[in-house]
Amino acid sequence: MKGIHIVATGRAVPKKIVTNDDMSKIVDTSHEWIVTRTGICQRHICEEETCTTLAVEAAQKALKEAIQKEGIKPEDIKVVVVASVTSEYSFPSTACLVQQALGLSQDTMSFDIGAACSGFLYGLEVCRSLLMAQEGKYALLIGSEQLSRVLDFTERSSCILFGDGAGAAVLRLDDSLYAHRAWSDGNKDVLYCKGAGQEEMKLRMEGQDVFKFAVRVLKQGLDTILTDGEITIEDVDYVVCHQANKRIIEHVMKKYPGHEQKFYMNIENYANTSGASIPIALDEMREEGLLQEGMKIVLVGFGAGLTWSSALITI
Ligand code: UT7
Repeated sequence: MKGIHIVATGRAVPKKIVTNDDMSKIVDTSHEWIVTRTGICQRHICEEETCTTLAVEAAQKALKEAIQKEGIKPEDIKVVVVASVTSEYSFPSTACLVQQALGLSQDTMSFDIGAACSGFLYGLEVCRSLLMAQEGKYALLIGSEQLSRVLDFTERSSCILFGDGAGAAVLRLDDSLYAHRAWSDGNKDVLYCKGAGQEEMKLRMEGQDVFKFAVRVLKQGLDTILTDGEITIEDVDYVVCHQANKRIIEHVMKKYPGHEQKFYMNIENYANTSGASIPIALDEMREEGLLQEGMKIVLVGFGAGLTWSSALITI
């Protein structure tokens, strides 16, 4: 089975930073409560930016780096996938708008996928599968979210948790070690947002139910992908989980004693950016020089659907 190589990454966040103290002026909360229960210190919230402009900016950065690194031409991109649950338009897809903004060729399959916080990971396998029929070509995978559009800023247990942002990756096939899994169970009660034409379009969440689900599937997703890849946690350089709550990740990392430092976290700066959280983390890790060629990284996502997914990739 062909593996996937991340050629380049990029990220974009809105200019406006909203701190926990700022949130305490909107709802009955405090920095102390938010940081202790979630690890979040601040989030970026759109003012002029949109899900589309964030996606375009992140994609432009990734494409620029890919051109510098591998000399790829924009027309070599044959697939554009945007993972999002907060697209600006029901249609056209955000991916089509990215394709146009980047001047990519019309001969490009561009579409969005809705797998909530698992979207980037679902997209990874979608892109890999489509590239199998496009020898020597590239895919652009983006997670972009403007969750502030659907937050209920009177509901303190959910509105403090989320932020806006986008992350992008240029992908191609390679022969490296790769494994991928995806699951879903059709739960529409503990985490949902009704769609166009419904009486309210606000995010609703049963926090504790989602917390228990997340802790369970993070471990299951991680263990399953290690088994599939015929490796152990000892062989893994980093685990990048969807950044939903620091306590969720801490719960899971304690199950791998001696390997806690492999679990990357940046939720303090961005809060939960749903489908964007994993590509934003990957881009930051690259920028910080943490990722070296040949490293094995496990990615694990989970969210509404309920969906979850894990992947083993080689950098
Ligand atoms: O991408 C996946 C999306 N979602 C998630 O991963 C969310 C998973 N769940 C969580 O992260 C946590 O459940 C939350 C952070 C949402 C909530 O934390 P919790 O420790 O589960 O709190 P809780 O809902 O059990 O509430 C405990 C108390 C309650 O007060 P009482 O009834 O004990 O008096 C809440 O009313 O904390 C109160 N509370 C708050 N207090 C201050 C809830 N939200 C807040 C708040 N500030 N923002």
